[in-house]
Amino acid sequence: MLTSKLSPRDHRPTLKLLLGLLLAGCVAPALAGDPAAGKVKSSVCVGCHGLDGNSPLPATPHLAGLTATYVVNQLRSFKDGSRPSPVMAAMAAGLTEEDMQDIGAWFAGQRVGGIAPQDDTMRLIEDGRQLYRSGNAKTGLAACIGCHGKDGGGLPREPSIPPLRGQKSDYVAQMLTNFKGGMRSNDAEQMMRRIAERMSDHEIQAVAAYVERLNKR
Ligand code: HEC
Ligand code: HEC
Repeated sequence: MLTSKLSPRDHRPTLKLLLGLLLAGCVAPALAGDPAAGKVKSSVCVGCHGLDGNSPLPATPHLAGLTATYVVNQLRSFKDGSRPSPVMAAMAAGLTEEDMQDIGAWFAGQRVGGIAPQDDTMRLIEDGRQLYRSGNAKTGLAACIGCHGKDGGGLPREPSIPPLRGQKSDYVAQMLTNFKGGMRSNDAEQMMRRIAERMSDHEIQAVAAYVERLNKR
């Protein structure tokens, strides 16, 4: 399903068709937020997510380098409750659609900082690398690489898939655990819940350690 979506032809409507749609008013203008406005609007987020989206707190994700689409999707989910988080529900409650677009544009333009791996996590990271690239045939676990990209950078044509590289390992592990237990259920077509339900705790820890190691967004 996803593979067919990725067919390049789907994304290349002829110029004529595009013009026709534009003239007919059928194409929403590219939802481009204003990063400068987003920077100002995200000043309330700084305490937890860091000045430039590089979070100083353990269980709080980096936002730097996520796609604007993904950030907006998550803010909508926090606001409508489909992704429960008391903290983020309160933060998203007052945001308009325009605020979300601006904030998304700001964080999408930031770079995630380097994070040096601890020596004693190297074996875990290696297990994670295997899993990320090949999945687990025994349990039918799909490889993460197919959706989250070769270097954890996401897929250019699928902006609803978050990049994982450089993300905090304990946050990633928490989210996989939440998808697994159904506490987080805002993933379209249960995509991540179906993945996470097949994962052992060791696999969750390993892949989380690995993606944090992919430290450039
Ligand atoms: C008091 C701390 C705090 C503040 C302030 C805060 N956040 Fe968060 N944010 C969190 C935590 C904790 C999570 C993880 C939520 C979860 O467990 O699902 C999170 C998650 C997120 C995510 C999801 C990231 C992902 O990778 O899925 C986005 C997007 C986000 N916050 C945006 C914002 C924005 C925008 C603001 C400011 C308007 C903000 N946050 C303010 C603590 C905070
Ligand atoms: C079939 C495609 C697909 C595969 C395969 C896949 N993912 Fe995902 N993943 C997604 C999508 C789509 C989302 C965004 C869900 C949403 O909108 O909330 C996501 C979200 C996530 C998140 C939440 C990120 C955040 O910032 O909160 C994590 C963590 C994650 N995936 C880890 C993995 C891992 C680890 C694997 C491999 C074991 C994997 N995914 C395999 C499609 C996929």
